[in-house]
Amino acid sequence: MKILFAASEAFPLVKTGGLADVAGALPAALAAAGSDVRLMLPAYPEVLARARSIEPAATLGPLLGDAPVRLLTARMPDSDLELLLVDSPPLYERAGGPYTDAHGVDWPDNHLRFGVLSLAAAKVAAGTTDVGWRPDILHANDWQTGLAPAYLRLSGAPNTRSVVTIHNMRFQGLFPAAVLPELQLPALSFTMEGLEFHGQLSMLKAGLAFADRITTVSPTYAEEIQTAEFGYGMEGLLAARRRDLSGVLNGVDYRQWSPASDESLAQRYTAADTAGKATCKSALQHELGLDADPARPLAAMVGRLTEQKGIDLVVSTLPQMLALGVQVAILGSGEAHWEQALTEAAHAHVGVATRIGYDEQLAHRIIAGADLFLMPSRFEPCGLTQMYAMRYGTLPVVRRTGGLADTVREAGAPGGTGTGFLFDAAEPEAFLGALQRGVTMYADRPSWRLAQRAAMQQDFSWDRAADEYLWIYRALAPHLAAGTAWGRTGGA
Ligand code: ADP
Ligand code: GLC
Repeated sequence: MKILFAASEAFPLVKTGGLADVAGALPAALAAAGSDVRLMLPAYPEVLARARSIEPAATLGPLLGDAPVRLLTARMPDSDLELLLVDSPPLYERAGGPYTDAHGVDWPDNHLRFGVLSLAAAKVAAGTTDVGWRPDILHANDWQTGLAPAYLRLSGAPNTRSVVTIHNMRFQGLFPAAVLPELQLPALSFTMEGLEFHGQLSMLKAGLAFADRITTVSPTYAEEIQTAEFGYGMEGLLAARRRDLSGVLNGVDYRQWSPASDESLAQRYTAADTAGKATCKSALQHELGLDADPARPLAAMVGRLTEQKGIDLVVSTLPQMLALGVQVAILGSGEAHWEQALTEAAHAHVGVATRIGYDEQLAHRIIAGADLFLMPSRFEPCGLTQMYAMRYGTLPVVRRTGGLADTVREAGAPGGTGTGFLFDAAEPEAFLGALQRGVTMYADRPSWRLAQRAAMQQDFSWDRAADEYLWIYRALAPHLAAGTAWGRTGGA
């Protein structure tokens, strides 16, 4: 099975959030399961700086507009995973992030930047480039590669099937209809059944309309996005395609996220011996300027500062949280008013520490050093940090939605298999109620240890998700499935 996995970010090359963690780990898990996988990314400066064995592979010429485009082959810095980099300096060689400039403003030509990425993916998938490799499956991710299944279908190439994975329905890649000719998209595709969304071009919808299969990153979110509350206007299309839609829960890259081997920690630890966690906690309290009290539960949050993550619930309940006896540590970046509110909260309250910015190592130290991990998300397609927290014995307090509902079980029930604390209504009282249960259990050491052990023993490794994706790919390419079932003898 040959798979082209196209994405706009991948850890450890370039990362703004969970998509990078997925694109960094899932292709490697598919390769480990025996597939021939290439990960396609734009050749941003940080990608060119970090990737290994970069070689020119093919010239694609100008694809959209006049910027020259070529493909490079390369390898991940820390593995043999093969990369196909879309190199076009006028589009990608810029100081700033993958989607925005240094001030957080969207690049004005994002339609071209991700149009070119998508078209390059479709061309490789259609076998019309000189790279000497054509995949059986084109796997696109989110709006940035949403046009790839559309370009592939419109090219008429018969053999390659496409899958699109939704990591977040909220971000749709909307652009004015006027860019259609620049993207070389036929006017005929701009319909309600195609790329059009309320008079605009939606790159996400392009993927949903044209991909052979749609997946999202948890079973619960797959159901939720078929409703008006979570579908952002695409619930009708998703419900109509529900036979082609399923949820595959993300995994955890335990090479990156294990307290037993994590080099960013003050002391490593395991489920059998958690002594090092106390050291991590006091080191963190020290680092953040919090009172180094081992008995006081430390509740932490790491994430994008946006209402999706329920940051408003956390900020508005800080006094009540402190009254429950917890310390609070928050690491995040995002919307300016939340960054400001957090900075002010840290000044206003003793026992609250906030760090604004993006800091991969500090994220590890917080997840290890905290006792409770806060994720009161309004919606959460999967959520990775609650799974990381569980592995570090940090019990999550989560809203019962999306992947949070699929990965966390209420602690304290008979049998002792619970791993965290859940609530339903996105309201302060409900959130504080779940936190209160966590704080109460923290004081009851035997129950806490039982829940902590259950959390640390959860296995969300990528092998399972890779297997599920392979089933999906095989169902789309039945000739290859037969090859697998009976032992492949020829070129299938
Ligand atoms: P989302 O993709 O919605 O942001 P996920 O939980 O799937 O949420 O993944 C978020 C990823 O980004 C995790 O790896 C998390 O550790 C990381 N992350 C988010 N914010 C920060 C930050 N401010 N500093 C460091 N890492 C962060
Ligand atoms: C998105 C979602 C998050 C998910 C991640 C990776 O950013 O918000 O829930 O875990 O993608 O799939």
